[in-house]
Amino acid sequence: MTFQTIGKSLRRKEGFLKVTGHSVYADDLRLENCLYGKTIRSTVPHAKIKEIRFKDGIPWDEFTIVLPSDIPGLNAVTLIDAEQPFLAEREIRHVAEPVALIAHRDKHLVEKARHFVHVDVEELPAVLTMEEALERNNVFKSYLVQNGDPSEKWNEADVIVEETYRTGAQEHLYIEPQAMIANTIPGESVTVWGSMQCPYYVQKALAPLFDLSHENVRVVQTETGGGFGGKEEYPNMIAGHAALLSWKAGRPVKMIYDRREDMWATTKRHPSKIRVKAAFKRDGTLVALDIDILLDGGAYPTLSAVVLSRATLHAWGPYKCGHTRVRSRVVMTNSVPYGAFRGFGAPQAIFAIEMHMNRAALELGIDPVEIRRKNFLHQGDQMPTGQVIREKIDLEMMMDRALELSGYHRKRADFEQFNAQSRPHRKGIGLSVFFHGSGFTGSGELRLASELSMALTGQGGVEVFAANVEYGQGTNTVLTQIAAEACRIDPDLVMIHQPDTSAVPNSGPTVASRTTMVVGKLVERAALELRKRLKEPTDFEASARQYLAEHGELRITVQYEPSSDLHWDDEKYRGEAYAGYAWSCDVAEVEVDAVEYMARVTNFVSVVECGRVINPLLAAGQIEGGIAQGIGFALYENVVLEQGAMKNNQFTNYIIPTTADTPDIHVNFVEFPHSNPGPYQAKGIGEMPIDGPAPAIGSAVAHALGGRFINELPLLPERIMDVVESL
Ligand code: MOS
Repeated sequence: MTFQTIGKSLRRKEGFLKVTGHSVYADDLRLENCLYGKTIRSTVPHAKIKEIRFKDGIPWDEFTIVLPSDIPGLNAVTLIDAEQPFLAEREIRHVAEPVALIAHRDKHLVEKARHFVHVDVEELPAVLTMEEALERNNVFKSYLVQNGDPSEKWNEADVIVEETYRTGAQEHLYIEPQAMIANTIPGESVTVWGSMQCPYYVQKALAPLFDLSHENVRVVQTETGGGFGGKEEYPNMIAGHAALLSWKAGRPVKMIYDRREDMWATTKRHPSKIRVKAAFKRDGTLVALDIDILLDGGAYPTLSAVVLSRATLHAWGPYKCGHTRVRSRVVMTNSVPYGAFRGFGAPQAIFAIEMHMNRAALELGIDPVEIRRKNFLHQGDQMPTGQVIREKIDLEMMMDRALELSGYHRKRADFEQFNAQSRPHRKGIGLSVFFHGSGFTGSGELRLASELSMALTGQGGVEVFAANVEYGQGTNTVLTQIAAEACRIDPDLVMIHQPDTSAVPNSGPTVASRTTMVVGKLVERAALELRKRLKEPTDFEASARQYLAEHGELRITVQYEPSSDLHWDDEKYRGEAYAGYAWSCDVAEVEVDAVEYMARVTNFVSVVECGRVINPLLAAGQIEGGIAQGIGFALYENVVLEQGAMKNNQFTNYIIPTTADTPDIHVNFVEFPHSNPGPYQAKGIGEMPIDGPAPAIGSAVAHALGGRFINELPLLPERIMDVVESL
């Protein structure tokens, strides 16, 4: 099959506007008579609210003030359930919890006024660790996946390896902070513009807040400077706050967090504690696997149940094992609520299983490569959920390619020799192999029932109407390429409508590595339907113009259609967990300074199979970005919690990798043209690249340290020092 635009590195559709500074972000929007809003937040993790006092020294009569009693509808963010209040009413459950809102036309005065609001509280004991939460049985959600019975297999094993792994919180650090502008007609309607991944989530949260029908809440996405999951659910909160102030003031209200507030008060990646017990035969064959996952959910459920689900369903790694049990729980603490973050539970689970396979290889005295070869899943094999791998996979080939591209075997031997000579630094190399499910888990896509429209344009092209947002990852370009290919037109003739709930149907949220695979498929189907209506023209442009001249307009809507061979049982947690999986192998090389104990990544190879690659440059960019973020997760990004909130909430003391800390990254695609549900056989790529770096780097560091594994992320110098000093 030859393609016109699929597989070509088309330029980013909105790139010109971005690099010339013409893109309009939320803070660039100017509305007349606009007020600036600020949030008053708690400073204690658990308390009863006694009184909110507005102290002298501020002209409070010039301010708009919103308290819980001003809320016209439901004081809870409707997400999965409606449990987290927009403003705490009686009880505070975490530091930085919103308790009141203030707005004024003077940006500086409103900032000053914040310090003149005092929340009188009666403090209550706080639960700040996962262990304590578990003791108290504060469990938000739990799952069990079981296949066979590992407990019967421990006796048959030659070697049992059991370890506990921990990962810390991680901050998204999108370049553009959370930002929303609201305008309302009090009593009638609400409009918000802002930075977000999911316009229809915001609509769903705002309608009950104001007791309005969905049609009376309009949500428009403005150019969005990154999200990484951090703009999946949090925008509901800030949009609600801006809209409440506007409703009370009868004027537009802008709320833009500064970096410190953004890092202090918004969601992060769930900290995890994962125990893995695995039984092996002497030759490395995996016979039983027992995994226990614990996540800290923070003070409110947010999306934790779904994050836990994805962690659970990625926990066994790409291996065949007849006797597997995964038990998982997410607990409630008095920490700032944790939420969606690229990878969505998978990076934590994959860190555990992949570190464990590398450690087991060491204990068995075999190479990490060989233990994988013994146990890889193949086409036709079953995962512990009973899902049969129908598509073609070839993990051996992908791993071999990564080994060859990185010079793994040679370097492994060379580095061991090098390290024996006690130099000022040590070298190591490590690998990971992993998968990531594209799209919503289980029956999620069925429930979403996404819709997408496409219409002919006067230029003889098409316009795509979807709720999925461009936030730097390439949605607009990828959807354009799919539409252009399917219609057989020039990509310049494809327009993408700005996500706006008053203009686009609900094609679902921009999350879960679903946009290319699920929404892209809707684009393809809509385009093919348009071609059919135009009677399969050889010249689409001419036929489109002729059709418009004769009939006025042509706009069609398509809806997600589940494949009939996908079944998911939510009760038993069995079946086809994901419609498609992407697969990958990472090899990381590191140097560890023997004096300062700093580790750095010196080379990185990633071999990726994500079905058809729609735009190689954008796909490689996604992978390189995910790896950079994964290097941060592995080595540098340390969220220091004080009373359950981020204490180091500044760029100066929360360290992320810069280009100086990012090695050469070699991305290599493997494409199997097989049948999977994506457009032109494409699968998701957004999240997978952040799954593999941490265990590859962790294992490389262990290799550099002579086989001493550190089970806790990030691998800070002090953690490395502890190991080196104990040598
Ligand atoms: Mo998300 S972490 O935006 O699926």
